[in-house]
Amino acid sequence: MKKLSSFIFFIFISIFTSLSFAADWLDKEVPSFCQAYKSYFDHVGIACEYGIAGWKTKELATETVQKGIQKHANTITAGNEFKPQFIMAWWGNNPKVTNITFKATNGVTIKTPELNGFGSVDAMLQICKERGLQMRGHVLVWHSQTEDAFFRQDYDKSKPYVSKEEMTARQEWYIKTVLEHIQNWEKVNNEGKKIIWCWDVVNEAVGDGGSELRKESSWFNIYKNYDFVVNAFRFANKYASKDTLLCYNDYNCNIPEKRQGMIKVLDNILAARNDKTLPTRIDAMGMQAHIGKYVKVSDYEKAIQTFLAKGLDVQITELDIATEEKYDEDELYRVYKDYFTMFIKNRKIKGKNGITSITIWGINDEATWLNSPSQIKWHKNTIQYPLLFQLKGNSYQPKKAFYGVIEAAKEYKN
Ligand code: GLA
Repeated sequence: MKKLSSFIFFIFISIFTSLSFAADWLDKEVPSFCQAYKSYFDHVGIACEYGIAGWKTKELATETVQKGIQKHANTITAGNEFKPQFIMAWWGNNPKVTNITFKATNGVTIKTPELNGFGSVDAMLQICKERGLQMRGHVLVWHSQTEDAFFRQDYDKSKPYVSKEEMTARQEWYIKTVLEHIQNWEKVNNEGKKIIWCWDVVNEAVGDGGSELRKESSWFNIYKNYDFVVNAFRFANKYASKDTLLCYNDYNCNIPEKRQGMIKVLDNILAARNDKTLPTRIDAMGMQAHIGKYVKVSDYEKAIQTFLAKGLDVQITELDIATEEKYDEDELYRVYKDYFTMFIKNRKIKGKNGITSITIWGINDEATWLNSPSQIKWHKNTIQYPLLFQLKGNSYQPKKAFYGVIEAAKEYKN
């Protein structure tokens, strides 16, 4: 009996301590991620979703998340809301084509479709304004999450692809419309001060398993060459303000063949930067950094240094670390700490290229994309714990890995 009661007492104490002492990300004792890294990187970010009606989560729409992000980040990336699929918001249907036409720089005049998704874009900009946050714009040109009808004659998904010339005109119109919408919002609502400080102009143009452009892409299938990538940087340069940074963004940068493909993309963009009409501009390589715990820090560092050697800065844009077949919090703590120590080592220093920003791809493990049905298969159907917080009830609680990241900043020695 005595044994049983001391066992019950033990259980009670364990539950009590775990309930009462688990810190919340807003607690004073929990250091700010962003403050810890302020002297190393211009921008420290966390990706999140606003959470539109019917979509899976409500993140930035809630006050708790707004406060937490305000404390731990100075920039956010929209998990979805700034992607073509969400800005178009045709949801698999053919769009309504308007009476407004657009005459493109290549001389082609096109009809233009309705874009229905600026509501969530504006809502996120407003929250950023209120909370003193900035945003990475993600993304203008991507093979995924872009409506099929955008590539088709008369914007009708049952019809064939349009010609290259028509598609180039549509691309110019889309980039111009999105960039001007945001500039106008900033002018009217934020005294012209920038919220979007950077854009992923093109995402993931390189295919997997080699160095070639990705074939499963309507962009590629219309052009069969690099023109759609280069043109995107011409138009972004034409319509974005000069101090908005332009990035090419991709994943698996640590795989040498794939990285070779990214270098080819960058070379094509850079080759057009002195063109008389419509020059390109690119400021940074966006390394998504969806990595797994077995990706060696030294291999990743090599990738970073290859891009820096191209004369570009690097932004770590979508960092998460898959825990693969086994989650061990001490191991994840170590891996995060080692990665951040290496990131700091490669930070931008005046007069030299370097890493200028780091964004973590998501707030808490419960909301990570790595546990979506398609992703979890890659991880042998094992639940992943790749992020820095866990959500218990309404409380976002820092994991041990979070403290690894903070320690890396505090302990760093030149
Ligand atoms: C890629 C994209 C992101 C996002 C993630 C998965 O990395 O760039 O926008 O879709 O995949 O969440």
